[in-house]
Amino acid sequence: MINLKQSQHEYWSNSLTYTLAATGAAVGLGNIWKFPYIMGENGGGAFVLVYLACVVFIGIPMMMSEVMIGRRGRSNPGTSVKRLAQESKVSSRWQAVGWLGALTGYLILSFYIVIAGWALAYVFKALSGDFISQDAAGIEALFVEHLKRPMQLIYWSAAILTATVIVVAKGVQRGLERTIKYAMPLMIILLVITALYSGFSGDFVTTLEFMFKPDFSKLTINSVVIALGHSFFTLSLASGIMLAYGSYMPQDISIYKTSLYIAAADTIVALLAGLAIFPIVFSNNLAPSAGPGLIFQTLPIAFGQMPGGVLFGTLFFVMLVIAAFTSTIALLESSVAYLVEHWSLSRWQASTLSGLVLWFMSLATVFSLSGAPWTQLEINGHSYHIFSILDYTASNIMLPIGGLLLAIFVGWRVTSAISQAELKCTPLIYRIWLMSMKWLAPIAISILFLQLIGVVSL
Ligand code: PHE
Repeated sequence: MINLKQSQHEYWSNSLTYTLAATGAAVGLGNIWKFPYIMGENGGGAFVLVYLACVVFIGIPMMMSEVMIGRRGRSNPGTSVKRLAQESKVSSRWQAVGWLGALTGYLILSFYIVIAGWALAYVFKALSGDFISQDAAGIEALFVEHLKRPMQLIYWSAAILTATVIVVAKGVQRGLERTIKYAMPLMIILLVITALYSGFSGDFVTTLEFMFKPDFSKLTINSVVIALGHSFFTLSLASGIMLAYGSYMPQDISIYKTSLYIAAADTIVALLAGLAIFPIVFSNNLAPSAGPGLIFQTLPIAFGQMPGGVLFGTLFFVMLVIAAFTSTIALLESSVAYLVEHWSLSRWQASTLSGLVLWFMSLATVFSLSGAPWTQLEINGHSYHIFSILDYTASNIMLPIGGLLLAIFVGWRVTSAISQAELKCTPLIYRIWLMSMKWLAPIAISILFLQLIGVVSL
């Protein structure tokens, strides 16, 4: 086994700090920004059920696998997979799975920082009272106006990226762990306050029906693919993150328990976000399928009308920025770990280089969201913009494919002596985990893909 001290990074001081950091990486824009709008676009209740099933039966076992590989391999995502492959006496080429993950994480980060930049811009809008007494139309106009200024979007996302580069360059220090310790609970409290307010003042009954009464006729195969992709996205799976965070994990922490806590916290935040947003959507006759702008076009209506809305609104967007920030750090970390270990760059050089490339890549999303014609592409007679292509490819194709390969690797290639030694869970849980990795995840993901590309039809 590889000694902890051989790890080329710092490692988490204890179970709590690991759980907080990994929860920080998992909880982010995916929960508060993305989950509500894709739920809105995919018909509500049935989508939520499929998503929950994906989290429980595939997401949690997959998180356990990734953390296990990271902790055993104690290196960057690709090298950790390679070390496990060597230890199990199978081809080192499996390391490609780790690299694919890191690449996917990198693509995700290129649009993630732009949306995080929106959240940062909205802190200042909330603070300067821009939402006060605005109706739905006024808030929508504010958002459209915001998107139309690419230069501003570039500044905001550059600010997020710069802060990310600095923190990652310095190493994930106590400061960050401490920030997360307070920011996360505070964010949940603010979400509860917002959900309570919008529940009382908005249309809570329709929201409950929309979110929890499944209507399977609204579910398409594409929605199931999106639900599966999102379960990976929201838990930060198949993107190198959990491999990287696992590599800093002390030996005596339970992988199973921490994975369960992280997934539970992540799911609670996502559902709370839905409960905060949809009552406002329905009481203002807005469309649940409004797309990526949904939270920016709804929550400000509530903040503009509730007592103390300037304070709550500002705090809310500050928390959203922090939630996003703990994910951007995680996303940058895996590419930096690679550059440091393989190209012998210093952490500062690696973070700066990575940051510059990302900043450049983020321009495609910025201009795509502000509607620049060169960012629109025709595919099969439909017009798509670069941002949605990037998001769809990374989240719904690359993440599940990475997950599929990882599942086959740990389910069929890694020896059970290694997985049992690392997971150290009860025989029943071990059997469920193995069943998911050996059969359920590979079969479910493969069938979905074959269905999506029209090879099989259920
Ligand atoms: N899980 C993060 C979120 O929900 C996003 C993310 C994806 C972070 C992949 C790291 C890796 O916002």
